[in-house]
Amino acid sequence: MKSLMTCLGLMILGIVIALFIGFHDREAHEELYYDDDQEGLNDQIVFRFSHVVAENTPKGLAANKFAELVRQKSGGHIKIEVFPNGSLYSDIEEIDALRKGDVQFIAPSTSKLGMLSPEWGVLDLPYAFTSYDAVQEGLNGEIGTQLFASLKKNNMKGLAYWTNGFKQITSNKGPIRTPDDLKGQALRIMQSDVIEDQFRQLGAAPRQDSFNSTFQLLENNLVDGEENTISNIYSKKFYNVQDYLTISNHGYLGYAVMTDEHIWNSQTEETKRILTEAMKETTEWNEKHAEQMNKDQLKEIKENSPISIYQLTKAEQDEWMKRLDPVYQQYESVIGRKLIRELLELRKSYETDS
Ligand code: LMR
Repeated sequence: MKSLMTCLGLMILGIVIALFIGFHDREAHEELYYDDDQEGLNDQIVFRFSHVVAENTPKGLAANKFAELVRQKSGGHIKIEVFPNGSLYSDIEEIDALRKGDVQFIAPSTSKLGMLSPEWGVLDLPYAFTSYDAVQEGLNGEIGTQLFASLKKNNMKGLAYWTNGFKQITSNKGPIRTPDDLKGQALRIMQSDVIEDQFRQLGAAPRQDSFNSTFQLLENNLVDGEENTISNIYSKKFYNVQDYLTISNHGYLGYAVMTDEHIWNSQTEETKRILTEAMKETTEWNEKHAEQMNKDQLKEIKENSPISIYQLTKAEQDEWMKRLDPVYQQYESVIGRKLIRELLELRKSYETDS
């Protein structure tokens, strides 16, 4: 009996020792293979940011900067995947993709938001802004606030206005100096009725089409020209398939960075704080660099391309302005009298300043 007890005792002891060694072994194993990088990967938050322009543009660089700042501020916990060049969605598709939750951030040019609410057309009015300062004043003031408020009925949230710059005209059909030079010319324009009607006013034949099809339209002579900022003309090489470039500054092109309200509201306070801070810093950076980027890229085009460049004189610009001004009246009932009046007051205050 005594030896049976001893035997059982020894067996229990053996089992305890084996369990103890096994436990230690597992601990040692886990310590050895524990991968820091994998920690919390399963609960990493990933957002998709889709846009249509090249990376070396004010919007392309801002989107990348935003992603980097979010990564830094969240210690890698929040990831923004940026899809440039329309690689995920075209400008025609991206608003719908945001609605469906397939993408969480977009930054369409404000011209394309007329399809959500007509007030956005105010920013497309000819010579709406005559300087970057005027743009900032308008967008950081009553005009910008009112436009962002209009997104609410579509369950969208405006996070920031990013800037690009002023639009210029390129063409293959002779130099464009006077408004009449555009008569009969087929032009690719953005999806905006206000822009369409201003070119119709001059006797041109505007065609609303996507940004990413513009190069092919120009190359295959399906249109004679287009209007865009220098950074878009440069980064998409429109200057390679166009003979004439007119610095007209006839309109403004900027962006509304947007997300879906449900997506935004479902984030934790900490996530919202990080995204808000990163967006603020990015927007300041964008405001500081957009103008210079357009200037530098115009210099590049001048130095490296045979395109013929003409800059409208002040008197010529005044003539364009006069010819295009009827569009303000035409759109008063569509955009709203109050908004147009605010814009005109702002425009006037900058005319007096200069
Ligand atoms: C265009 O369609 O020409 C622009 O809106 C592209 C952009 O996003 O700058």
